[in-house]
Amino acid sequence: MLNQIFSRRPIRPRTIKLAVIPGDGIGQEVTAEANRVLDAVLAGSDVVLERTEFKLGAERYLATGDVLPADEQAAIAQHDAILFGAVGGVPGDHRLQAANIERNLLLKLRFDFDHYANVRPCRLFTGVKSALADPGDVDFVVVREGTEGPYAGNGGRLRADTPAEVSTEVSVNTAYGVERVVRYAFELAEKRDRKKLTWVHKTNVLVHAGATWQRIVEAVAAEHPGITVDYMHVDAATIFMVQDPARFDVIVTDNLFGDILTDLAGAIGGGIGLASSGNINPSREFPSMFEPVHGSAPDIAGQQKADPTAAILSTAVMLDHLALPAEAARVREAVERDLAARGEAARSTAEIGAAVIAQIAPRA
Ligand code: IPM
Ligand code: MN
Repeated sequence: MLNQIFSRRPIRPRTIKLAVIPGDGIGQEVTAEANRVLDAVLAGSDVVLERTEFKLGAERYLATGDVLPADEQAAIAQHDAILFGAVGGVPGDHRLQAANIERNLLLKLRFDFDHYANVRPCRLFTGVKSALADPGDVDFVVVREGTEGPYAGNGGRLRADTPAEVSTEVSVNTAYGVERVVRYAFELAEKRDRKKLTWVHKTNVLVHAGATWQRIVEAVAAEHPGITVDYMHVDAATIFMVQDPARFDVIVTDNLFGDILTDLAGAIGGGIGLASSGNINPSREFPSMFEPVHGSAPDIAGQQKADPTAAILSTAVMLDHLALPAEAARVREAVERDLAARGEAARSTAEIGAAVIAQIAPRA
């Protein structure tokens, strides 16, 4: 087995260098609140945040033509973590098509910084309305492979723009890449109470990639006898996620299946405005990146209508990654109390941020 977890950076940095990429639209508004919460939770601690803001995204591209200049990427790489808002302009904006910000900025960072474990928690907090009528006790984590699969960009078009056009979009699965994300998921399952792992694929149809995944899951499972392992085809997984989401603890899956399943999980967990994520590089060779699962929502941008909770919960994922679990727990518990206390009255982005800060417990 090839992978080793090793760390090149200190476990508890006194000074955390944080690269902030607010991006576009509501990304800017929710990131501002996430930063306020970070300042509040770290106030009076021995941890100092040193922030550098990088203005990247559709807005920057339209103004300057830059998507991700190499020197800025190199500067981002020098940080301990990245807080990312959202990028993208109005759908169908032709000026943005060639730039493909999603691929050339967001996915480029995920790939170049080797964010192989895309961790997306789904927990239905008390007081939050799920899209399901009777969801039960929802608390699972999707570990989405982040660097391979159909996202790898392997493919192309032959005889483009002719009636004989041929396009391929090859799903790339390496034993190395599958093993490391499967290991990550098993290690995560070991840390959780229910000790259950569900791997999701489509082995009946995608027989080649399926065989690689199956062989590796079985090998790693043998090293984790305490973990109950379950398998589901991805189509069936969507039914189970709707009918009985409480059955899931840790899910590990391919990049594209994980993309789709985590939007569904977002709806089950009370909406995409609450869905947090971490694009994790467990080796710490490059900074990991923390972002709400939602996009830039140009339709409501600049109106203080976005819920910053997903961005705030993403800072908790970040604090855990930075070996600050007590601070992560204080953020989560503050969100939990705020959600439980929320009435029907609409609140602005900044009001929700302030309400969460008011709920942060003093440090122990
Ligand atoms: C997500 C998004 C991205 C993805 C897009 C914006 C490239 O949908 O983070 O889930 O497909 O991974
Ligand atoms: Mn998605």
